[in-house]
Amino acid sequence: MSRTFHDESVDLPEGLLTLFQRSRVSLTLADLEQPDCPLIAANDHFFELCGYRADEVIGQNCRFLQPACGAGPVRDRMRQFITDEALDDGKFVVPNETKGGKPFLNLIYMSKLKRGGKPRLILGSQFRINSERAGMAELYDRALTEDLRKLNLLTTESNWIVLGSFEALASSNAIIAQARFE
Ligand SMILES: Cc1cc2nc3c(=O)[nH]c(=O)nc-3n(C[C@H](O)[C@H](O)[C@H](O)COP(=O)(O)O)c2cc1C
Repeated sequence: MSRTFHDESVDLPEGLLTLFQRSRVSLTLADLEQPDCPLIAANDHFFELCGYRADEVIGQNCRFLQPACGAGPVRDRMRQFITDEALDDGKFVVPNETKGGKPFLNLIYMSKLKRGGKPRLILGSQFRINSERAGMAELYDRALTEDLRKLNLLTTESNWIVLGSFEALASSNAIIAQARFE
Protein backbone atom coordinates (compact mmCIF):
# COMPACT_ATOMS: atom_id res chain seq x y z
CA MET A 1 0.00 0.00 0.00
CA SER A 2 1.28 3.43 -0.96
CA ARG A 3 2.02 5.84 1.91
CA THR A 4 0.50 9.29 1.91
CA PHE A 5 1.76 12.54 3.41
CA HIS A 6 -0.43 15.50 4.15
CA ASP A 7 -0.77 18.82 5.90
CA GLU A 8 -2.82 17.89 8.96
CA SER A 9 -4.14 21.41 9.52
CA VAL A 10 -6.47 21.19 6.51
CA ASP A 11 -9.92 19.63 6.76
CA LEU A 12 -10.07 16.95 4.04
CA PRO A 13 -12.98 14.91 2.69
CA GLU A 14 -13.43 11.81 4.86
CA GLY A 15 -11.75 8.77 3.33
CA LEU A 16 -9.66 10.74 0.85
CA LEU A 17 -6.33 9.79 2.41
CA THR A 18 -7.24 6.11 2.39
CA LEU A 19 -8.04 6.48 -1.29
CA PHE A 20 -4.61 8.08 -1.83
CA GLN A 21 -2.95 5.17 -0.03
CA ARG A 22 -4.78 2.50 -2.00
CA SER A 23 -4.40 4.15 -5.38
CA ARG A 24 -2.24 2.64 -8.12
CA VAL A 25 -1.51 6.07 -9.62
CA SER A 26 0.19 9.27 -8.54
CA LEU A 27 -2.26 11.48 -6.61
CA THR A 28 -1.78 14.98 -5.22
CA LEU A 29 -4.03 17.50 -3.54
CA ALA A 30 -3.61 21.29 -3.53
CA ASP A 31 -5.37 23.89 -1.40
CA LEU A 32 -7.00 26.70 -3.40
CA GLU A 33 -7.67 28.62 -0.20
CA GLN A 34 -4.02 29.07 0.69
CA PRO A 35 -1.81 31.60 -1.07
CA ASP A 36 -0.21 30.12 -4.24
CA CYS A 37 -2.25 26.90 -4.05
CA PRO A 38 0.32 24.66 -2.30
CA LEU A 39 0.34 20.87 -2.24
CA ILE A 40 -1.23 19.60 0.97
CA ALA A 41 -1.17 15.86 0.25
CA ALA A 42 0.54 13.38 -2.06
CA ASN A 43 1.02 9.64 -2.21
CA ASP A 44 4.17 7.57 -2.72
CA HIS A 45 3.55 7.17 -6.45
CA PHE A 46 4.02 10.92 -6.78
CA PHE A 47 7.30 10.87 -4.83
CA GLU A 48 8.54 7.97 -6.99
CA LEU A 49 7.64 9.86 -10.16
CA CYS A 50 9.49 13.06 -9.25
CA GLY A 51 12.20 11.82 -6.88
CA TYR A 52 11.43 14.39 -4.18
CA ARG A 53 10.62 13.60 -0.53
CA ALA A 54 7.41 14.66 1.18
CA ASP A 55 9.12 17.31 3.33
CA GLU A 56 10.51 18.91 0.16
CA VAL A 57 7.16 19.29 -1.59
CA ILE A 58 4.25 19.52 0.87
CA GLY A 59 3.55 23.25 1.24
CA GLN A 60 5.03 24.07 -2.20
CA ASN A 61 3.25 24.89 -5.43
CA CYS A 62 3.79 21.99 -7.83
CA ARG A 63 5.45 24.18 -10.47
CA PHE A 64 8.82 23.25 -8.90
CA LEU A 65 8.77 20.27 -11.30
CA GLN A 66 8.99 22.55 -14.34
CA PRO A 67 12.41 23.11 -15.89
CA ALA A 68 14.27 26.41 -15.43
CA CYS A 69 13.77 27.16 -19.15
CA GLY A 70 10.00 27.08 -18.58
CA ALA A 71 7.16 24.71 -19.38
CA GLY A 72 5.83 26.63 -22.41
CA PRO A 73 2.22 27.73 -23.09
CA VAL A 74 0.70 24.82 -21.17
CA ARG A 75 1.65 26.63 -17.97
CA ASP A 76 -0.77 29.45 -18.87
CA ARG A 77 -3.48 26.91 -19.65
CA MET A 78 -3.04 25.32 -16.22
CA ARG A 79 -3.16 28.72 -14.52
CA GLN A 80 -6.29 29.58 -16.50
CA PHE A 81 -7.88 26.30 -15.38
CA ILE A 82 -7.07 27.01 -11.73
CA THR A 83 -8.30 30.61 -11.70
CA ASP A 84 -11.43 30.24 -13.86
CA GLU A 85 -14.28 29.06 -11.63
CA ALA A 86 -16.22 27.87 -14.70
CA LEU A 87 -13.61 25.16 -15.43
CA ASP A 88 -14.11 21.88 -13.57
CA ASP A 89 -11.38 19.54 -14.78
CA GLY A 90 -8.70 19.21 -17.42
CA LYS A 91 -5.71 17.28 -18.72
CA PHE A 92 -2.37 18.84 -19.53
CA VAL A 93 0.92 17.57 -20.97
CA VAL A 94 3.74 19.38 -19.21
CA PRO A 95 7.54 19.17 -19.51
CA ASN A 96 8.86 18.38 -16.04
CA GLU A 97 12.13 17.33 -14.41
CA THR A 98 12.84 14.87 -11.64
CA LYS A 99 14.82 15.96 -8.60
CA GLY A 100 17.89 14.48 -10.29
CA GLY A 101 17.33 16.76 -13.31
CA LYS A 102 15.96 14.06 -15.64
CA PRO A 103 13.41 15.54 -18.08
CA PHE A 104 10.09 13.79 -18.64
CA LEU A 105 6.68 14.58 -20.05
CA ASN A 106 4.04 14.62 -17.37
CA LEU A 107 0.37 14.07 -18.18
CA ILE A 108 -1.50 15.89 -15.42
CA TYR A 109 -5.19 15.48 -14.68
CA MET A 110 -6.82 18.04 -12.37
CA SER A 111 -10.32 18.20 -10.92
CA LYS A 112 -11.70 20.78 -8.51
CA LEU A 113 -13.43 19.77 -5.28
CA LYS A 114 -16.19 22.04 -4.13
CA ARG A 115 -17.76 22.60 -0.71
CA GLY A 116 -20.33 25.22 0.31
CA GLY A 117 -20.68 26.30 -3.32
CA LYS A 118 -16.98 27.11 -3.70
CA PRO A 119 -14.04 25.23 -5.26
CA ARG A 120 -11.63 24.70 -2.34
CA LEU A 121 -9.29 21.88 -3.27
CA ILE A 122 -7.79 20.53 -6.48
CA LEU A 123 -7.10 16.86 -6.97
CA GLY A 124 -4.15 16.22 -9.27
CA SER A 125 -2.93 13.02 -10.85
CA GLN A 126 0.36 12.60 -12.68
CA PHE A 127 1.36 10.07 -15.35
CA ARG A 128 4.87 9.86 -16.77
CA ILE A 129 4.54 9.59 -20.55
CA ASN A 130 6.82 6.86 -21.83
CA SER A 131 6.64 5.83 -25.47
CA GLU A 132 8.29 2.49 -24.63
CA ARG A 133 5.40 1.58 -22.40
CA ALA A 134 2.53 1.80 -24.87
CA GLY A 135 -0.59 0.48 -23.22
CA MET A 136 0.32 1.95 -19.83
CA ALA A 137 -1.81 5.02 -20.54
CA GLU A 138 -4.89 2.82 -20.87
CA LEU A 139 -4.12 1.09 -17.58
CA TYR A 140 -3.60 4.49 -16.01
CA ASP A 141 -6.97 5.75 -17.32
CA ARG A 142 -8.69 2.70 -15.88
CA ALA A 143 -7.02 3.02 -12.46
CA LEU A 144 -7.75 6.74 -12.22
CA THR A 145 -11.36 6.30 -13.37
CA GLU A 146 -11.79 3.75 -10.57
CA ASP A 147 -10.29 6.17 -8.01
CA LEU A 148 -12.54 9.00 -9.18
CA ARG A 149 -15.63 6.80 -8.90
CA LYS A 150 -14.64 5.95 -5.32
CA LEU A 151 -13.94 9.61 -4.60
CA ASN A 152 -17.38 10.53 -5.94
CA LEU A 153 -18.98 7.98 -3.64
CA LEU A 154 -17.15 9.10 -0.54
CA THR A 155 -17.66 12.80 -1.21
CA THR A 156 -21.41 12.46 -1.71
CA GLU A 157 -21.51 11.11 1.85
CA SER A 158 -19.80 14.29 3.08
CA ASN A 159 -20.45 17.83 1.89
CA TRP A 160 -17.87 17.76 -0.87
CA ILE A 161 -18.59 17.65 -4.59
CA VAL A 162 -16.06 16.45 -7.15
CA LEU A 163 -16.38 18.68 -10.20
CA GLY A 164 -15.74 17.37 -13.69
CA SER A 165 -15.93 13.92 -15.14
CA PHE A 166 -12.75 12.12 -16.15
CA GLU A 167 -14.67 9.88 -18.57
CA ALA A 168 -15.89 12.92 -20.50
CA LEU A 169 -12.32 13.97 -21.33
CA ALA A 170 -10.30 12.56 -24.22
CA SER A 171 -8.35 9.38 -23.37
CA SER A 172 -4.78 9.84 -22.17
CA ASN A 173 -3.51 8.24 -25.40
CA ALA A 174 -5.44 10.82 -27.46
CA ILE A 175 -4.09 13.68 -25.32
CA ILE A 176 -0.54 12.34 -25.64
CA ALA A 177 -0.87 11.98 -29.44
CA GLN A 178 -2.24 15.50 -29.72
CA ALA A 179 0.56 16.92 -27.56
CA ARG A 180 3.16 15.47 -29.94
CA PHE A 181 1.82 17.73 -32.70
CA GLU A 182 1.90 20.92 -30.62
C1 LIG B 1 -3.09 19.42 -7.59
C2 LIG B 1 -2.11 20.02 -8.56
C3 LIG B 1 -1.09 19.24 -9.07
C4 LIG B 1 -0.17 19.77 -9.98
N1 LIG B 1 0.83 18.98 -10.45
C5 LIG B 1 1.75 19.50 -11.28
C6 LIG B 1 2.83 18.71 -11.75
O1 LIG B 1 2.95 17.52 -11.44
N2 LIG B 1 3.73 19.30 -12.57
C7 LIG B 1 3.62 20.61 -12.98
O2 LIG B 1 4.47 21.08 -13.73
N3 LIG B 1 2.61 21.38 -12.54
C8 LIG B 1 1.67 20.87 -11.72
N4 LIG B 1 0.63 21.64 -11.30
C9 LIG B 1 0.46 23.01 -11.85
C10 LIG B 1 1.26 24.08 -11.12
O3 LIG B 1 1.14 23.92 -9.74
C11 LIG B 1 0.76 25.49 -11.50
O4 LIG B 1 -0.61 25.57 -11.24
C12 LIG B 1 1.01 25.85 -12.97
O5 LIG B 1 2.39 25.98 -13.16
C13 LIG B 1 0.32 27.17 -13.43
O6 LIG B 1 0.44 28.17 -12.49
P1 LIG B 1 1.68 29.22 -12.42
O7 LIG B 1 1.71 29.96 -13.74
O8 LIG B 1 1.32 30.09 -11.26
O9 LIG B 1 2.94 28.43 -12.22
C14 LIG B 1 -0.29 21.13 -10.39
C15 LIG B 1 -1.32 21.92 -9.86
C16 LIG B 1 -2.23 21.38 -8.97
C17 LIG B 1 -3.32 22.26 -8.43
